Amino acid sequence: MSDSVLVLGTQWGDEGKGKFVDLLSSEARLVVRFQGGHNAGHTLVIGDETTVLHLIPSGILNDAVTCAIGNGVVLSPAALFAEIDKLEARGISVADKLVVSGACPLIMPYHEALDQAREKAAGSEAIGTTGRGIGPAYEDKVGRRALRIQDLADRERFLEKLRAVAAHHDPTLVRHGLDPVDVDAIAASLPHLAERLLPMMADVPGLIAEHRKRGDQVLFEGAQGTLLDVDHGTYPFVTSSNTVAGAALSGSGCGPDAIDYVLGITKAYTTRVGAGPFPTELFDAVGEELGERGNEFGATTGRQRRCGWFDAVAVRRACMINGVTGICLTKLDVLDTLEDLGICIGYDLDGERLDHPPLGADALARCTPVYETMPGWQSSTKGITERDKLPQAARDYIERLQALVDTPVHLISTGPDRSENVVVKWPYDR
Ligand code: GDP
Ligand code: IMO
Ligand code: MG
Repeated sequence: MSDSVLVLGTQWGDEGKGKFVDLLSSEARLVVRFQGGHNAGHTLVIGDETTVLHLIPSGILNDAVTCAIGNGVVLSPAALFAEIDKLEARGISVADKLVVSGACPLIMPYHEALDQAREKAAGSEAIGTTGRGIGPAYEDKVGRRALRIQDLADRERFLEKLRAVAAHHDPTLVRHGLDPVDVDAIAASLPHLAERLLPMMADVPGLIAEHRKRGDQVLFEGAQGTLLDVDHGTYPFVTSSNTVAGAALSGSGCGPDAIDYVLGITKAYTTRVGAGPFPTELFDAVGEELGERGNEFGATTGRQRRCGWFDAVAVRRACMINGVTGICLTKLDVLDTLEDLGICIGYDLDGERLDHPPLGADALARCTPVYETMPGWQSSTKGITERDKLPQAARDYIERLQALVDTPVHLISTGPDRSENVVVKWPYDR
């Protein structure tokens, strides 16, 4: 049997998942996205070429890999086509490598309109979503009224379902001062959607099973991060999907034995984009420096990311929930200039010391971090590929983090480029 790796984020997203899915895909034959949608932004840097992917799995630059979008993903046809066209214009072949599950719910223009209108109406209570229609699309899925890719095969039936969906959403759209669902416009676009999407439709669970039987490596690519999980994250300041390891199974269609190794991508500090509690957030010059050195602007919306110290309480929890085998510690080089480094080792909640985060946003907002300080190394780690070449203070910092989160660090990222890594243990090696 094969050795399959699941890559996921242990914080609030943007940990560097795309870089490592791309890197690990060199040994895989199948890469599967299993949740989220085009709210994700995964950046791949190879030499002077930067590629940002939103929906297409980050194995796409690798010619020997099939990329699959599993049933757990909510799919915007417009976003997918734009992404495919952009890559193909650069000479990267996509059409022959990409397959989609027929069970993916479609994100339609009214989902996006509802998402944005709700955020606007929420004022200071807004979640700070990406405005891509993700929440409303997942609501339709669990509400059992989603239009799915497979529905495109029967146009008449599609339109019947669409009219029912319109009847459901129109009063809300109108209440927000928006136009009702434009059934005619969607009907007119159906031949085009069917023509492009139906040929890509495949049995993703069958494909995973087939590859595993053949002994191929299968790579699962998570989006967002554990603290954005709809159940385990900082609810309600979360995304609308499960982002944890368990979602890889239901969102792609395989059993627990299909995953041999869970790689927890973890930034050497913390960032968050959007609203919601963030105990270690820094509002000072250090926070600014992290943002500048780390180029902390969202790959999807361009929004500035909030920055703060490493939160071992949150990552400890994420490692536990996901069964993380090894951590990939990213953006170590961003800390190169700092004199001292704060590490949050516990929370204080109303005078009580916590080692794990409380459930939900309200209690977390009342937590104050308990810090430990370590000396910085104030020298460049950029591009280092050998552990022994890292400054002693950097090695001490990494040792301390892995002890605090009770999980070994197997990879260290020292720059955005595919080649800028220290490999302590390669996830495919047993
Ligand atoms: P993802 O959503 O988890 O795939 O992460 P993003 O692509 O949204 O954000 C990570 C950003 O950090 C991207 O711009 C990467 O190119 C960059 N990056 C990844 N690893 C490193 C690293 O080790 N050092 C530095 N300086 N940048 C990195
Ligand atoms: P990647 O895969 C960081 C955040 C949004 C918002 C919340 C809900 O690149 O790590 P949504 O549009 O999903 O309903 O927004 O989730 N968010 C992300 N933050 N990285 C992401 O993806 C994110 N996807 C969603 O900013 O706070
Ligand atoms: Mg991102």
